[in-house]
Amino acid sequence: MDKIVVQGGRKLKGEVRISGAKNAVLPLMAAALLTEEPSQIENVPNLQDVQTMIKLLRVLGAKVHYSDHILEVKPGRDLKLVAPYHLVSTMRASFCVLGSMLARLGEAKVSLPGGCIIGPRPIDLHLKGLEGLGSTISIEHGYVVARAKNGLCGSDIFLGGKFGSSVLATANVLMAATLARGTTYIENAACEPELVDLANFLIKMGANIKGHGSHLIEIKGVRKLRGARHTVISDRIEAGTFMVAGAMVKGSDVLVRDCCPEHIMAVIDKLSQAGIAIKKGRTTVRVRRNGTLKTLDITTLPYPGFPTDLQAQMMALTTVAPGISVITEKIYPDRFIHVSELNRMGCKIFLEGASAIIHGVVRLSGAPVMASDLRASAALILAGLAAEGTTEVRRVYHLDRGYEQIEKKLSSLGAVIRREKE
Ligand code: EPU
Repeated sequence: MDKIVVQGGRKLKGEVRISGAKNAVLPLMAAALLTEEPSQIENVPNLQDVQTMIKLLRVLGAKVHYSDHILEVKPGRDLKLVAPYHLVSTMRASFCVLGSMLARLGEAKVSLPGGCIIGPRPIDLHLKGLEGLGSTISIEHGYVVARAKNGLCGSDIFLGGKFGSSVLATANVLMAATLARGTTYIENAACEPELVDLANFLIKMGANIKGHGSHLIEIKGVRKLRGARHTVISDRIEAGTFMVAGAMVKGSDVLVRDCCPEHIMAVIDKLSQAGIAIKKGRTTVRVRRNGTLKTLDITTLPYPGFPTDLQAQMMALTTVAPGISVITEKIYPDRFIHVSELNRMGCKIFLEGASAIIHGVVRLSGAPVMASDLRASAALILAGLAAEGTTEVRRVYHLDRGYEQIEKKLSSLGAVIRREKE
């Protein structure tokens, strides 16, 4: 297993290019199964999760070719009915094939997704939505078995849960509804940019969709979809991570390129409140840190609120803002596994229910720490950038699921960082 070793205290300077969005491309790959015709997806990041999804599409019978960030999917006529445990259990996004397989084949058997370190990840909204389209669903031997022998039927579906809307449940129902008879309304739909990207791809495939990006999506079912060509949006979470990187050490000046500033307004707002100078361009954000950081009060919320996928990284920043900051998690109340590791680096964070109370310090001290999930791994690397001495982030395999060459991108900005075998 690899570890990342960071020598802290270096100012970051220069430009960094943001890759295509992981959480956009994975549902797009599932959507490509909705037709037998080939599709081409561009700006596809080379990530472990993309490789896992490629394996799953191949197991389902599609031909897939991936090189130079371009992915070609040729689903062909005969798809298999079963998405197996060994692939779906490793990555929740693969559960998205349920909606597309059910719509295309009238039947699907998809393994229940695995447990997750960031807390419970139920699937009740996915199942409620697909049942609402007229399928019958049963759980058999760890698999979700969905059947709609006479095809799916458009319907009014309310997709709100205890924690608000669900991104991947909306994606599953949206994909399934494109081939249903009649019109579907998804109320309390998620409106994250990754879903808008999915809807745009489906529209290129011939789907009739309105309202994507709002909480009410209208889908008029069509008989068939065709193959399409699409470029994935840039990754707002990677962009936010590099913006935080540019804020960790006084004197840093980082230009984040090829991003969508309008997708990261909540992050821009919080960094500005912390005293960071931000300059937005059309596809760039420049981040400059001059003085001491101010403390922050952050609550994670569905888009356009502050994203849960940047909570850990922002916490790393507040550890070096002298005074008390508060971060409240409203999407995954247990997503605080990074707290004990950040405390090993010399700050004091207390958990009070779904809130973290952070007593920021002037300087962190480098330490060996353990990465627990994807975003926590990034947060520990960010903390290492600002720490005195060496930080070793162990078990970083999660990192490769969602960040393309993060250590190379950081070293191009002047960070002293390397990957080593444990
Ligand atoms: N929820 C339910 N029932 C469901 C589905 C979700 O109660 O059937 C709850 C969840 O437990 C959570 C909330 O609804 O409290 C929101 O979860 P959501 O379903 O939106 O999460 P997701 O679609 O499974 C995607 C991202 C996550 C990101 C969340 C929230 C992908 C592949 N994953 O997951 O990304 O945190 O939306 O924005 O798109 C990451 O990239 O590190 C990551 C975890």
